Amino acid sequence: MLILGIESSCDETGLALYDTEQGLLTHALHSQIDMHAAYGGVVPELASRDHIRRALPLTQHVLEKAGKSLADVDGIAYTQGPGLSGALLVGTSIAESLAFSLNVPTIGVHHLEGHLLAPLLEPNPPAFPFVALLVSGGHTQLMRVSAIGDYELLGDTLDDAAGEAFDKTAKLLDLSYPGGPAVSKLANLGQPGTYQLPRPMLNSADLNFSFSGLKTAVLTLVNQHGNTLDDVARANIAHEFQEAVTEVLTKKCMAALRKTGLTQLIVSGGVGANTRLRERLNMVAKRRQYQVHYPRLEFCTDNGAMIAFAGAMRMQHAKQTDHSFTVRPRWDL
Ligand code: KG4
Ligand code: ZN
Repeated sequence: MLILGIESSCDETGLALYDTEQGLLTHALHSQIDMHAAYGGVVPELASRDHIRRALPLTQHVLEKAGKSLADVDGIAYTQGPGLSGALLVGTSIAESLAFSLNVPTIGVHHLEGHLLAPLLEPNPPAFPFVALLVSGGHTQLMRVSAIGDYELLGDTLDDAAGEAFDKTAKLLDLSYPGGPAVSKLANLGQPGTYQLPRPMLNSADLNFSFSGLKTAVLTLVNQHGNTLDDVARANIAHEFQEAVTEVLTKKCMAALRKTGLTQLIVSGGVGANTRLRERLNMVAKRRQYQVHYPRLEFCTDNGAMIAFAGAMRMQHAKQTDHSFTVRPRWDL
């Protein structure tokens, strides 16, 4: 089965072709980061309009790159939610109209399931069951993954997501959007131990997270500095912030593995691209003989490949053929 995957939930248009026998054939991405950077964050209306401009040329591109035509496509997977309504509607309506004209089935994919399964696109993927840490701009969750569609929530954030904390800290430090990579880059220039930020819920008995207090602590530090907040202080704050977030995430992952008795961890979502997080996880996992799996860096953030893959897995059990559609801007996995 050849599946065309379409991602358009936020500020990236992602297209991909996944073949259930040969694996991922091609993928292409257009990021709107430069367009939104001037506004300090994603402008929903601009995002929708840009998805309209990009989706069909990118579809053409992935088909050509794979030496395929629309006639070869056996099914279309698209992100149905959660995300920005207008942006989701673009991908959804393109997917359903293409599928209608080709007379092939569709599948509406949960964006987080796409992220969750992205590490399985890599060579030597882990076998089920495993623990998943999903760390994106909107979510910070630990899950026990027993099979496709069999997900048990082990822990969740009580307030801000880890990516959101990175983005808000970036704003406080006058860094550009998107905040995660910018904070991470600046953190590398910081001196360890200059500041002491809290590690929220580090020692709580559960597997939940909380990051809003950390952001407030950064705000307090920034305010204390006032006009004296120079590049050195900003780098030191970024460094300590990254240490705090990655320490909490690492400790909770180890606790989840201990609690479930599992030995394999997968990490996915935008914050999964963070080098310091990967370094810490690899270090402690090695000591305890756990295996950690990540998607390649470009598949940590939004992309079409993860949607094509999740759609292909799901389509083996269920498909939609009536081509009516709705989007689900808010949707629990
Ligand atoms: O998964 P994603 O692309 O979109 C959502 O579904 O949310 O994640 C985006 C989030 C943003 O908050 C971004 O700042 C963060 O992931 N991010 C990072 C890094 N790269 C992206 N956070 C920390 N370090 C990074 N290298
Ligand atoms: Zn995402």
